[in-house]
Amino acid sequence: MNLIVSVDNNWGIGYENGLLFHLPEDLKFFKSMTTGKNVVMGEKTFFSLPRQKPLPNRNNIVLSDNKELKIDGVTVVNTLDDLLEELKKYDADDVFIIGGQAVYSLMLPYCSTAYVTHVDAVKKADKFFPNLKEMKDWKLVYTSEPQNSGELCFTYNTYKRI
Ligand SMILES: NC(=O)c1ccc[n+]([C@@H]2O[C@H](COP(=O)([O-])OP(=O)(O)OC[C@H]3O[C@@H](n4cnc5c(N)ncnc54)[C@H](OP(=O)(O)O)[C@@H]3O)[C@@H](O)[C@H]2O)c1
Repeated sequence: MNLIVSVDNNWGIGYENGLLFHLPEDLKFFKSMTTGKNVVMGEKTFFSLPRQKPLPNRNNIVLSDNKELKIDGVTVVNTLDDLLEELKKYDADDVFIIGGQAVYSLMLPYCSTAYVTHVDAVKKADKFFPNLKEMKDWKLVYTSEPQNSGELCFTYNTYKRI
């Protein structure tokens, strides 16, 4: 299973239910990695999406405690067990965990690859991702050349579970 996330220098990922950065290049990367695949997100991330619509050309799976929740074009699951059962239908390589904080933490133990965009900046954040550099079972295996987007500098990174 894969995970994809953008973090700042403090591994911050969100503030007030929104993203920390608007990086068109990173959004393109996200799209290229996840199109045609299965994406798993928490209810809060789903409702923070533009237009609150499923991401096109992807199988959208949303985790929520709310048993009444029904969303057109989305598979809603209510528990971790139900999610794991649902994901058995798909090749693990084709599953991407796309956030937010609660769902990343819940699903990190099931992931073997993490695609992390590191943005060289510090933003006010109230949601964070675990610092993979401090985790013994994760190893950084790839870092891109630094990229620029407006004033921001960032790199694409791949971490693998060892
Ligand atoms: N930087 C990035 O790459 C990135 C990517 C995605 C999101 N984000 C940011 O992350 C923030 C959102 O993160 P978040 O932690 O607040 O929310 P979240 O992970 O998107 O969703 C949390 C919700 O998921 C449901 N959930 C989680 N664990 C569950 C479980 N074990 N069983 C059943 N339901 C469960 C709950 O829904 P109920 O409310 O129904 O109980 C919970 O409220 C936003 O700021 C967003 O912009 C950043």
